[in-house]
This record gives sequence, C-alpha cells and structure tokens, in this order.
Amino acid sequence: MIQKTPAEIVLIKKACEITRNALVYAKTLVKEGISTFDIDKSLEKFIIDSGGSPACLGYEGYPAATCISVNEMVVHGIPSKDIILKKGDIVSIDIVVAYKGYHGDATRTYAVGEVVAEKAKLMRVTKECFFKGIENLRIGDRIGKLSHAIQTHAESNGFTVVRELCGHGIGRRMHEAPSVLNFGKETDGAVIVENAVLAIEPMINAGKKEIAMLSDGWGIITRDRKPSAHYENTVLFTKSGLEILTLEADDEFANR
Ligand code: MF3
Ligand code: CO
Repeated sequence: MIQKTPAEIVLIKKACEITRNALVYAKTLVKEGISTFDIDKSLEKFIIDSGGSPACLGYEGYPAATCISVNEMVVHGIPSKDIILKKGDIVSIDIVVAYKGYHGDATRTYAVGEVVAEKAKLMRVTKECFFKGIENLRIGDRIGKLSHAIQTHAESNGFTVVRELCGHGIGRRMHEAPSVLNFGKETDGAVIVENAVLAIEPMINAGKKEIAMLSDGWGIITRDRKPSAHYENTVLFTKSGLEILTLEADDEFANR
C-alpha cells in the first residue's frame, strides 16, 4: 500500500474536488430523454473547464470520458446515443479525474424520476454499504474489516455482491495496490497505513451476483438482468481518521 506525501495529497485532493463537482453537475443532467452520450460529452467539457482531464478516456483503449451504466449494467457502460434515459431507470455515473498526474475516482447512482421500490432500496443499501464499510475503519485495520461489513450489509438486505470487480488504491495511477474487495473475512486483506488513499466502491446486485460482459468488451451486466447499483468515493486515511475526498458538502453523511 502506497503512502502519499503531503504534496501528493494536495494534488489528489484537487483531483477529487473536480470529481465531486462533476458528479454534482451530473446529477442535474440526469433526466428523462437525454442520451448517456450527451451526459458524457457535458461531463467531459465540465472536467476540462475545471482544469482536470477525464482519466477514463483512452485508459486501456476505453472510448469515453466517463462510464455510464443503466439498470442491469453494473459498471463500465460506454456512453451511447442509443441509450436514452427513461423514467424509472437508475443510472450509475463513474468519473475519474486526473489533475497534474494524480487521480480522484467516484461514482453515484441516480434515479430518473420515480423508481420502483426495489431499485430505491438497492440505491440506498449500496450507499449504506460504503458507510458501514468505513465505520470505525482506521490505520492498522485490515481492508477485510471493510469488505466484511459491506458484504454483511448487502446480503442482510437480500442483495448480492459482485465478486469480479473491486476498489483499489489510487494516486499517481488510477489503479494501485491494494485491492479493496467488497466481500470476505475481517482478517483478510492489506493493513491500512497512514496517508493511504483508497477508492472504495461497493457494486451491489438486486438479484444474483453473477455478471457477464457485453460484446463491446467493456460493459458489465448482471446475468439475470436484474438491476445493479454502484457507489464510490476516494478516501484518505490519516492519524486523526479518514477523510472522504469526493463527498458532496451537503451529503447527509457529511461531517458525521
Ligand atoms: N472508475 C473505474 C474504476 O474504479 C474505472 C473505469 S475503467 C475505464 O476502476 F476504463 F473506464 F477507465
Ligand atoms: Co474506482
């Protein structure tokens, strides 16, 4: 696990600030009738105008600025003119911003108008999984404490945890050690060190945990086509506790 220097943390915080602002803006774009392509283009401009760059674009050949995943799409949905949001959809927008060589990574799942009760619960529980995971999490703990708490909360609500994808360290690179699994034993995983920065990102399915990849080589969907939700923040661990670098100032969990 990489310990960041104070100078690196300044740059990561700036990348995270742009990421957070982009998600706040994204929320205003999510409306019936808009295509995920148009959302992506607006977000790309917003990120660049903010002084950052969209790190997903060109990452291992990924063709867009953001990942936008609707309903049964778990992650890595390629924005498309053919994907038009409709009332009752849930849409996950995953944004990675690079700023002077450092990264911030966050995701929110938004509802388009009113959604069925199962989707509303899935969105709520997925966000709660993140906050249950980081509860009392501190330097010296194993990542497994977080992983176990996320799995327990998801499964006790009748949902399942995607196994093949996970969170990660982040900094100079979008993906750094360690892997931050969303399931497992409390005694598993790396020990969290001071000034570690981790992207913590539960991906929770309403139905079964199994996934499949679309023929575009990116989009991940649930095998049973039931909905999936995603909630992610970049988090800094210091001696005095943890700081959620991508959390909206007006979030109900801010300053708790
Ligand atoms: N935000 C994603 C993650 O946490 C990365 C998207 S993959 C990319 O791993 F190719 F789009 F960059
Ligand atoms: Co991530």
